[in-house]
Formats: sequence, C-alpha cells, structure tokens
Amino acid sequence: MLKNREIILGVSGGIAAYKSVELLRELTKRGANVHVVMTKNAQQFITPLTFQTLSGNPVLCDMFQLLMGSKIGHVTLADIADLMVIAPATANILGKIANGIADDFLTTMVMATTVPVLFAPSMNVNMWESSFVQNNVEKLKAHGYQFIGPIEGDLACGSVGKGKLADNEEIIEKIEDIFTQKDFQGQRVLVTAGPTLEPIDPVRSITNRSTGRMGFAMARMARRRGAEVTLLTGPHYLSLPRRDIPQIVVNSAREMHDAAMHYFEDCHIVIMAAAVADFRPKAILEQKITKRKNETHILEMEKNPDILKELGEKKKNQILVGFAAETSELMEKAEVKLKEKNLDLIVANDVTEPGAGFGVDTNIVKILDALGKVKKLPLLSKDEVADIILDQVVKLVKMKEKGRPWPRNW
Ligand code: CTP
Repeated sequence: MLKNREIILGVSGGIAAYKSVELLRELTKRGANVHVVMTKNAQQFITPLTFQTLSGNPVLCDMFQLLMGSKIGHVTLADIADLMVIAPATANILGKIANGIADDFLTTMVMATTVPVLFAPSMNVNMWESSFVQNNVEKLKAHGYQFIGPIEGDLACGSVGKGKLADNEEIIEKIEDIFTQKDFQGQRVLVTAGPTLEPIDPVRSITNRSTGRMGFAMARMARRRGAEVTLLTGPHYLSLPRRDIPQIVVNSAREMHDAAMHYFEDCHIVIMAAAVADFRPKAILEQKITKRKNETHILEMEKNPDILKELGEKKKNQILVGFAAETSELMEKAEVKLKEKNLDLIVANDVTEPGAGFGVDTNIVKILDALGKVKKLPLLSKDEVADIILDQVVKLVKMKEKGRPWPRNW
C-alpha cells in the first residue's frame, strides 16, 4: 500500500516529536519515500540529522534554504507528494494553517499542496479542549484536512486526558485508509473472529488455538474499504483492529450464536472467520473438578449450534462467507460446507501447512465460490488474504446490484 509513495512528514515543535522518528522508520519499512519538513521549534526537540540519516533525503527546515540543483522546493515537493502527514501537530501549527498563515516551510507547503493532508495532533489536554483549538480543528476539517487522534493517556505535562499523539500503527492505518478506494461504502459487514470458550467448571474451559488474527484482518480491511463493520469475537489477546470498529466480545458458541442472529438481520455481508467450538460440556459443574476422587474424568459433550448453517437458512439477500480450516481433503470438505451452509464463498486452508492457519500472520488459502470457481492464493499476509477475499466479495456485491443470477438466493 505504501510502496513507492512519496510522503511528506511534517514535524512541529512538541515533545512527541521524538515519536515521529519511529513513524518515519515504519513508513520507510513499508516502502515509502519520506521527505521530512521541520519547523524551527521542532528542531529544539530533535535534530534534522536524525531524520536525514533515517530518511535518506534532505530535511527541509528553512523557508529560504537553497537546494541548488535539487528538484525539491516547497512547491515542487508539494506537487510530487502523495500525502502529507503532520505528526506531531501542535496547537500552534493547527492555528496557523486554519487561519491562513504561511510563515515557514511547513505551513507554506501545506497551503501549496493539493494532496491529502493528515494531522496527528499532540498537546496538553486543556489546550486540545480549548475553544481556540477546537474551532481551528473544525475549520481545518471543513476544508477537507484529515485528523487522527489525539488519544487519551498520560501526557508529558503530567496530566492525563486526550492529547496524546496517536500510536504510529494508527497513524499508518489512517494513511493506508486515505489511499484505499472505498468500494465497500454503504455495506454493513459482520465479521466473526477468534475462538470460543466453553466452560467446564468455575476455573476451566475448552477452547481452540485460534488467535483471531484472520478475522481481525478481515474487519480492518473491510473498514478501510469503507464498510461499516461490527466485529463479533471470542476471547483474544490482540489489540483492536481500529477504533472505529465496534467490538462485541463473547465467550461461548451459544453467546456468539445469539449475537450473530441479532446483528444478521441488519447486515449485507457476513464473514464468519471465528473458530466456533462444535461441542460444549453438557453440564457446567458448580464446583471445581478435583483429582482426589478419581483417576479418570469423563467429560460428556453436546453439540453447539452451527451458527453459519443457521445464517445460511435464514439468509434473504445477504452475502455469506465461511472459512474451512482443514487437516485433510481440503477442497472436498470445503465444497460440502459451501453447499450445506448455503454460502456464497468459502475460504479453505490446510492448517497443517507451514505459514497457514492459527497463530501466524500469514495464510495460504483457496477461495471457492458458489459457481464452483476456485482461486488459489500463495503464502500471503493475513491482511493481503483479507483484501483478496474482499475483492471477491465486492464482485458479488456488484452482481447483486445488477440483478445478475447467482446460485444462492438474493
Ligand atoms: N461454524 C459455525 N458454527 C459452528 C461451527 C462452524 O458458524 N458451530 C462456521 C465457522 O465459523 C466457519 C464454517 O462454519 O466459517 C466452517 O467451520 P469448520 O469448523 O471448518 O467446519 P464445521 O462446520 O464445524 O464442520 P466439521 O466439524 O465437520 O469440520
């Protein structure tokens, strides 16, 4: 997404300026060519040399800096850039730009550019909440400038509140979001993720090795492409894919079932990436099981509802995507599930293959559709896999809109 993008990183004078060094590293790691522009005050916190060394590009600080023989002047750079991100953006820089003041390289460049500009503000909580700053933010938003953060947390001034620079991951997610075509606009998507957890007694439970990564990637990519996403997940240890994705956390398959039924009516697309337990202990014991009485312990299990199958039966015109994590006869089993559960697509993966399945950031999948077509993918990151699954889904959305015939009812 960021490969070969020309990005201008504007750094203004706040204590969070040191964090933009790491942001620069993350952007370059993803293949972007970053040009750093610093205000005079920013140089009090960090030196241009650090940015120059890490970006491999001259750092622009001075309005009248002579860049002889270089194409880079504030106007030229503003023209070749794909995006400008200002992190940290101080109250001062927001105020200047909102009021048309261009008295240094950075402010001049913001005004000279026609590319998207993203502000990542960072300041004291009272400053952020002041009517001056809020009015300026409103003004900038009305002009089409974009914002990420600030977020809540411990601030450098000693207070706690909203004013902290957004995490680099969030800033990068927002940049990638800006570059992404919104082909899922208007689509409400329910994504399930993670394992379920079936209690045995007050301290024990049965679960599986799903971490939730594939479902989280599906949720993040769908949101990035403009969908309104609800994430219904079993217990997990991941950080939220995005702040703007509401998350419903459940434990058992029955809880996931009830929540899925609740959200189903109102959504256009369901992506069922959760690894739902097929069975649960028949009775949840009130007391902790003790080893003192017996040498063996037999746990009687009963079937859980098949959530996806039930959604397939209820389906009116939604698009249903299932997953099939198999250890043998991948295609045969996936095909049966596609038909039995009345799905539009099924994503099959052999979890015994290295790099595929639970607990890793990559996957190797085959996507089968209801017409019998199969798309085989190589080893890819889960984000990339999610994007390709969504490409297939969007084709179905378009077919549905055009009223084209499809073997599954819509
Ligand atoms: N699924 C579900 N409810 C269940 C079990 C599975 O909704 N109780 C969904 C999964 O989220 C997945 C798809 O059905 O999208 C296939 O799940 P999988 O575990 O591969 O297959 P099962 O239907 O459980 O069949 P089997 O146990 O025979 O493999």
